Amino acid sequence: MERKELLELLNGLSTSEKIGQLVQLSGDFFDESMDVTETGPSEKIGLAEEYNLYNTGSILNVLQADKIYQLQKNYLEKSRHKIPLMFMSDIIYGFNTIFPIPIAQTCSWDFELIEQSAAISAEEAYYAGQQVTFSPMVDLVKDPRWGRVMESPGEDPYIGTMFSKSVVEGLQGKQANKIEEKKLAACVKHYAAYGAAESGRDYNGVDMSLSKFYNQYLPAYKAAVDAKVKLVMTAFNTLNDVPCTGNEWLNKQVLREELDFEGVLITDYAAIEELIAHGYASSPSDAARIALDAEVDIDMKTAVYANHLEKLIEENVLSIEQLDQAVLRVLELKNDLGLFENPYRGLVDESVPTAEDDHREVALELAEKSLVLLKNNGILPLKKDKKIALVGPYGDNANTLGMWAINGDPSRTITLKTGMEQVFSESYLSFAEGAPLIENIERLGFSSNITAGKVKLPEYDKGALLEAALKNAREADYIVVAFGEHVLESGEAGSKTDLRISEAQSDLITQLAELNKPMIGVIYSGRPNNITHLIDKFDALVYAWYPGSMGGLAVANILSGRSNPSGKLTMSFPRNEGQIPVYYYNYRTGRPIKSDNENSRFTSRYIDESNYPLFPFGYGLSYSDFRYHTISASSKEIKEKEKLEIRVKISNESNVQGDEVVQLYIQDKVASISRPSKELKASKRITIAPHSTEEVIFKLCIDDFSFFDNKGTSVLETGEFIIFVGSNAEETPLSLEISYIAS
Ligand code: BGC
Repeated sequence: MERKELLELLNGLSTSEKIGQLVQLSGDFFDESMDVTETGPSEKIGLAEEYNLYNTGSILNVLQADKIYQLQKNYLEKSRHKIPLMFMSDIIYGFNTIFPIPIAQTCSWDFELIEQSAAISAEEAYYAGQQVTFSPMVDLVKDPRWGRVMESPGEDPYIGTMFSKSVVEGLQGKQANKIEEKKLAACVKHYAAYGAAESGRDYNGVDMSLSKFYNQYLPAYKAAVDAKVKLVMTAFNTLNDVPCTGNEWLNKQVLREELDFEGVLITDYAAIEELIAHGYASSPSDAARIALDAEVDIDMKTAVYANHLEKLIEENVLSIEQLDQAVLRVLELKNDLGLFENPYRGLVDESVPTAEDDHREVALELAEKSLVLLKNNGILPLKKDKKIALVGPYGDNANTLGMWAINGDPSRTITLKTGMEQVFSESYLSFAEGAPLIENIERLGFSSNITAGKVKLPEYDKGALLEAALKNAREADYIVVAFGEHVLESGEAGSKTDLRISEAQSDLITQLAELNKPMIGVIYSGRPNNITHLIDKFDALVYAWYPGSMGGLAVANILSGRSNPSGKLTMSFPRNEGQIPVYYYNYRTGRPIKSDNENSRFTSRYIDESNYPLFPFGYGLSYSDFRYHTISASSKEIKEKEKLEIRVKISNESNVQGDEVVQLYIQDKVASISRPSKELKASKRITIAPHSTEEVIFKLCIDDFSFFDNKGTSVLETGEFIIFVGSNAEETPLSLEISYIAS
């Protein structure tokens, strides 16, 4: 449709029909045939009886193609203007083929592969009739207590930015105006700074200086907007005491004006209504006023817009122009999706291509690259023809997809046992569960019928489980322990204060360690756990995160050496919960710890623990042995229009080919506000053949040296910068200084 036609369509709508376009409901508001509408869900959210469901603009989280087809067909038959419904859902890291969870994906530092995985997710979902996905989630997070760490890109602004751009481009296509076939419209979330929830408690308030907001948190959302993301989702939290969903400064000034976002702003689930619980709106009507004033377009799953906007407009509290602007954005999105031409996009083609095998290959590659080898005293890769006892509740568990794999099928998931059987000979393998994965499910907070489906609490005898595992372990040469957190212990509302692995699993590990056999740990989790007390018990430790459909094979390939580990952490691992937040880009203090005496008093330190994380950002081991040699710069000065080239030489001293993720950090030595000790500005993943050397060239531009001041203004100041290059945030053996002189 041309814009002129869209405007005509808009002008032909009554006020209530316009408002309907801003209302998003779930599929259960309509019965199968839509001859009768369901009243239960409407009553539940308090939707006024006079609300006409056939004005509704969009539907969330209906996954089945046939249901979508039926809903659309019946809707179009019954609605006056025949504006197609728009279907949205959470396709966060896969639809049929499930990829590793996002925090794991970013540990690959392979943004092309991440883009490819997003494109596959889009394609698979497209053929199930999905049109919009609530992805990418790019909330920067420094606090592993927060359960949503699993769906975030981690602690670093550069990684968040790269991830954001890759996912948007994978889902939508590059710089897409129209959303083509096999693509979805993307929705970046949760705007903004949701990952900085105080105390790591989900939905909690967020406080931060403007410089931290602009320098650290905003860039990843901005990257999505720059990549032409079609939607932005508001966050549940307050930012500096104002709820994001009703925050005019955030949504109008920053998002619409500064970032130049022209697309649809949708709320998070029921977030407009929550303005009342925040103590920011006095009533649902007040909440509607605040949200539309803040240019929020779609109300997800509440009756607030549906019940109150019309009266507010009649009474001139809100203007019809404000309503029209929001409705036009929604119509434009439907138009960009091609819905007016084909309301059944993705659904009509009978012969849906199933390239699933190819998709699973990509999932395997991404899983292998996402796994992080945290420790290896030389035991890995495991020798063949040795007896391996596979032990632990994740040894043969397919429930390793993470909380957002809403369409994920555990029966299509390769468990570690299956993967190891493929890679090692079956006859060399035994398996025993050893301990329950989770014992107390009450605090997970799901109603018992949901929990019953998702958390199996089988009748078990703990002593018998342990005995069987110890028996197998005694007979083996190696013990591989697969353990971790249940998938429902992270994800939305999965905040925790104790990040240690459950007692039953820790006991299992302690008892196995007493057998004094080489022991390898494989941890499945949605967050960095506190593993300080366990690490010494293992000869090697692999962090598997939730590795997706192909996870078991990926881990087995790493253990056997078929694949050389290359993942690097995108979040620091705390030594204990008291250190949180612990992250690499520390702000410098007036009393830094002394490098020659970390125990001297009156410095910025703990008296009972190191300042440093257990494993720093950027860390991850390989079976190769990489050495950093030389660094040089194309100029001593940064110039306005020239790229600064930094060249480094890295060798592989081992007999195995491997991938190294080379990381470039900068430090602004003196500035008008105190700047972090190190900031990641570039990275390159390179493959280095055995006993050879490679040169890596980084190209930095002037913007890499600017920053936002405490008013949110971007500044570039005369001064000196240190450039560091290395293998993680703490190990940067190469460095040099350059300067910038403002003209
Ligand atoms: C989550 C969002 C999600 C939405 C829709 C909310 O609870 O915070 O991330 O997109 O539900 O399912």
